[in-house]
Amino acid sequence: MITSVTKLDAISKEEYLELEKKVQNSPWRQSFHIQPVTGLLNDPNGLAWYNGFYHLFYQWFPFGPVHGTKYWYHLRSRDLVSWEDLGIGLAPDQSTDSHGVYSGSSMEKDGLLYLFYTGNHRDDNWVRHSSQCLAVMDQEGRIVKKNTPLIPEPPAGITEHFRDPKVWKGKNGYLMITGAQKISQTGTALIYQSADLKRWDYGGELAVPWKTKAFMWECPDYFEAEGYGILMMCPQGMETEEPGNSNIYETGYLIGNPMNEETLTFDGSRYERIDYGFDFYAPQTFLDPFGRRILFGWMGLPEILYPTDQYGWAHCLTIPRELTVVNGRLRQNPVKEMEQMRSDPVYETILMDDESYEDKRFYGRHYELLVEIVDQTAGVFEISIRQNKQEKTMIRYSRNDKMICVDRSASGEVFAEDYGFLRKARLEGGLKEVRIFSDESSLEVFINQGEVSFSLRIFPDKSSIETVFTAREGCVKASIQKWNLRI
Ligand code: FRU
Repeated sequence: MITSVTKLDAISKEEYLELEKKVQNSPWRQSFHIQPVTGLLNDPNGLAWYNGFYHLFYQWFPFGPVHGTKYWYHLRSRDLVSWEDLGIGLAPDQSTDSHGVYSGSSMEKDGLLYLFYTGNHRDDNWVRHSSQCLAVMDQEGRIVKKNTPLIPEPPAGITEHFRDPKVWKGKNGYLMITGAQKISQTGTALIYQSADLKRWDYGGELAVPWKTKAFMWECPDYFEAEGYGILMMCPQGMETEEPGNSNIYETGYLIGNPMNEETLTFDGSRYERIDYGFDFYAPQTFLDPFGRRILFGWMGLPEILYPTDQYGWAHCLTIPRELTVVNGRLRQNPVKEMEQMRSDPVYETILMDDESYEDKRFYGRHYELLVEIVDQTAGVFEISIRQNKQEKTMIRYSRNDKMICVDRSASGEVFAEDYGFLRKARLEGGLKEVRIFSDESSLEVFINQGEVSFSLRIFPDKSSIETVFTAREGCVKASIQKWNLRI
């Protein structure tokens, strides 16, 4: 019987083919997003440009939509658009990672790619033991694990919730940041230092002025851009601003001066969300050879059931996004390479006076839609997409309060209802542009060139293809462009 601790070598080829068949019969398989062949995908791991390829791994449980014993699944790409499937990168085959090769990152040194991950082990009493471990990939793609963990246990004062090492090159050697929980049940991030990526010394807790009631920080990531230091993390158990319309766990960042690597202090005190959508978690960034800071996120959340579960799979990653800092805030935009997928362009300038505009050329399921607002006197501007007689997903901007809102209350199969159907963000400078990437079961919406983004899964019927633009209480003039997307 397959359980959450089953491993691949314990089942037959036929049993695995059965699982694949079940997934292939699923509606809602994505067309241009990274998704699991079977089972569950979660965090992106080990992102790198190495030896002429972009490398990406993701957290994977092969046998169903549950958070069981995790593997790292490996893909590579030359252009961030088409991905080559390289199969299992790291398997839970050591005593230290027997219950999961958990999340981590990578760093190139001396022609090798060092992969840092958390070994998750459960003892006979199901007590968790976490260690930070290393595997090394060479230029032929061979991955070899080092047998002894780099950091065998959490430091004093930290519980076994100690995971997700992210490594970067600091001013005097390498630094590693991990997510952690203090014995007082509050979340934090820890810093380790190394000269050679092999021997790591504990530096201490990263001191930040920001206070939260979160009980755990998962997947921290620190980087510098345009003179700022940026700390991203997933603080679990924060008090939410809008109970009833917010995610179970959120992902945010602190921005400030670059971290002081001697004192391990970081002055970032303003917390901002990274993405305002329903399904976004555990993002990771890396620097590519062109100097771009690129992010992938998990378009899903822990502890939520999704409609694809019944077909034996769950989740996908976001499209790759380039991060920049504008006026002290992070922006994220799809990487330029996404334009390679465009085909069948259509373009129109539309003027609506308290009315709707609709044209079949803008219908579809797998497309990019770019809406540039030329002028808006209307109180409300709405873009309804993936619509049929019963279903629609609504993007609504109201000029009075400058709020942009995504409504998935009628997006198809209902799920995560305890967390509401609306997500909102305020646009200080008003609405100028909406750019939407629609795939079979997801939407990624970028507002005003990445000032705000919304990532969400939707599970509509195949017939939900209509697109309708509406101005209420006044006029909207907009130029609209659409491309079908295919890899
Ligand atoms: C975040 C996370 C990480 C952990 C991994 C396990 O989604 O819980 O903290 O390493 O997933 O799959």
